[in-house]
Amino acid sequence: MRPNIVITHMIPEKGVNMLRKKFDVEYHTNTDILSKKQIISLVKDKDVFLSLLTDKIDKEVIDSCPNLKMISNYAVGYNNIDVKYATKKNIIVTNTPRTLDETTSDFVFALILAVSRRIVESDKFMRSGKFKGWNAMDFIGFDVFNSTLGIIGMGSIGKEVALRGYHGFNMKILYSDRSVKPDMISVKARHVNLHTLLKESDFVTLNIPLSQETYHLIGEEELRIMKKTAYLINTARGEVVDEKALYKALKEKWIAGAAIDVYEEEPKFTHGLEKLNNIIMTPHIASASLQTRELMSAKAAKNIIDVFDGRIPEGLVNKEILSDFNVKSKLLLL
Ligand code: GLV
Ligand code: GLV
Repeated sequence: MRPNIVITHMIPEKGVNMLRKKFDVEYHTNTDILSKKQIISLVKDKDVFLSLLTDKIDKEVIDSCPNLKMISNYAVGYNNIDVKYATKKNIIVTNTPRTLDETTSDFVFALILAVSRRIVESDKFMRSGKFKGWNAMDFIGFDVFNSTLGIIGMGSIGKEVALRGYHGFNMKILYSDRSVKPDMISVKARHVNLHTLLKESDFVTLNIPLSQETYHLIGEEELRIMKKTAYLINTARGEVVDEKALYKALKEKWIAGAAIDVYEEEPKFTHGLEKLNNIIMTPHIASASLQTRELMSAKAAKNIIDVFDGRIPEGLVNKEILSDFNVKSKLLLL
């Protein structure tokens, strides 16, 4: 069988070309978010769906696509997919691990430096012609070097953040995670509980996936534990932070500032955030580098090629499917 694949949005060409060599590919170059109805109309008779994180793939979508054998998500996060239901329906789900760890952690530092040294605010000040000469009291920020960095979630992105903090800025590293990471001894990182991390850190960075356990992990109570001089950085998923509580914390100055790349209901954000000077907001671009987006495209394609060649794809998400993977991949080849 020559499976047919649908790509619902424009992605870097590399992966598209890899797939075209082996499969029938229907490539749509949408750049807008698609409605459920639009998704279903594009995917309903396809074997493989190469999806973006904005494609919400729930039970209804899955049930409307009876031929679907695989969802290859062009992202590391896969909270847009009902993985449990896909697994029940024998649909293989993959993501793009180890494509964006360094790029995202570079971006975490871009945000840390920009928010603490007030880069965006002072750029606006220059453009509006307000600079009247050097002043000892203008745009006083907070030092990054020698400060304490609290990393919530020491996965592959968290580790890259820790390396940059320690080697680049001599930061003291604290982290909370379900498990202790022995390799983090090399950066003298201390495993602490969430309360201690929030209480002691100058910069708190979220590097965890969205799940039932991490939904609103940071709310009013947690923001009140943080130091008044501390900053919150979120490049994970918007729903990990209670956005309304963050707005209140920034407006009432419980914390010094925040830099966020993700929102609870993208592309919307809590009304009023845009008026605050102590927040930097970027449009979910932490992985947006030329090299990384190309790598993500290639990895999303490679996952599909592997499955149809009978290999276990590197990005396999629903590993439960592995128990009969060989049988399944043989079936896919029929
Ligand atoms: C981006 O947010 C991703 O999960 O890849
Ligand atoms: C959060 O990740 C925690 O372990 O406290």
